[in-house]
Formats: sequence, structure tokens, C-alpha cells
Amino acid sequence: MIRVLFVCLGNICRSPTAEGVFRHRVAEAGLSEIIETDSAGTHGFHVGNPPDPRAEAAASERGIDLSDIRSRRFSQYDLAAFDYILVMDDENFAHLLGNASTNEERERIHRLLDFASNATQREVPDPYYGPAGGFDRVFDLIEDASAGLLHHLRTHHTL
Ligand code: 4NP
Repeated sequence: MIRVLFVCLGNICRSPTAEGVFRHRVAEAGLSEIIETDSAGTHGFHVGNPPDPRAEAAASERGIDLSDIRSRRFSQYDLAAFDYILVMDDENFAHLLGNASTNEERERIHRLLDFASNATQREVPDPYYGPAGGFDRVFDLIEDASAGLLHHLRTHHTL
């Protein structure tokens, strides 16, 4: 089993979108029994809540269902439990690095956009306070990087 965790700040916009997109691709590839996906937020403002309606709308327009996802807070135990931890921005990256206690844990933390084909930006911008179009931009960035991440896992784990 390969365990993949997506992390953002609130776990209601970016990381649930990444979880939804990535698990959809994993299912399409017939790898759901091998690759497990989850998401979490570094802060607990929205714990227990479903994704932001704007994130759900942007995803459902592209055929991705986020409705079963509920926000949970990132725990330091996640650093040991997950093989790949994909953060959305530099703030998330710093937060998780601050929680990591071993090199092995530190090496599990990556920026999601490190797996993007188009490397012009390395952060998925926080869309929460921005205009509605921000959610489509977030979706595009995540979709591109999800394909790269799946390719990486298939190559490195010969799936
Ligand atoms: P996310 O977006 O980190 O992509 O889930 C946010 C959601 C909520 C807040 C900030 C960002 N907030 O400040 O409540």
C-alpha cells in the first residue's frame, strides 16, 4: 500500500480538491487497492465541515465528486503514517517541516506542484478570499500535478 496525503491550510478548498482529483485518477488506473488517499489541514478552523461549495462546484463541473470529504486537522502522526505528503504552498511546507522529527519524515514532504508539467509556479494559491475564478485555476494546477504524481508513483513503484 502507498499512502498519499494532501495538505493545505483549511482542508476545505485545495487539499480536498487534490484528494478528489487524485483518487479519481487512481480509480481510473485501477490502482485504488494499492494507492490510498486522504487530505488534512494545518489549521482546525473548519474541522468536520464538507468542502467549500465553490470548490465542490468547480470539481463537479469537471466530473469530480468531493461531497464525502470532511475537513480534519493534520496530525504529527500523519508524518509517520503517509508515504507521500503533498503540500499546496510554502506556508504548509514550513508548518510540516516544523513538525517533522526525522530525515525520513522530512523526505516524505513535497510541494504538489513539484509534480506539475508546467513549472512556472510552485504554490497552489489559496482561493478562499479570492474571486470565484480562483477555484478553476486551483483545479487546473491540481489536475496537472495529479497526473505527474501518478506517473511518478507508477515509475518509482513499478505499478
Ligand atoms: P484551503 O483554503 O487551505 O485551500 O482549504 C482555506 C480555507 C479556509 C481558510 C483559509 C484558506 N480560512 O481562513 O478559514
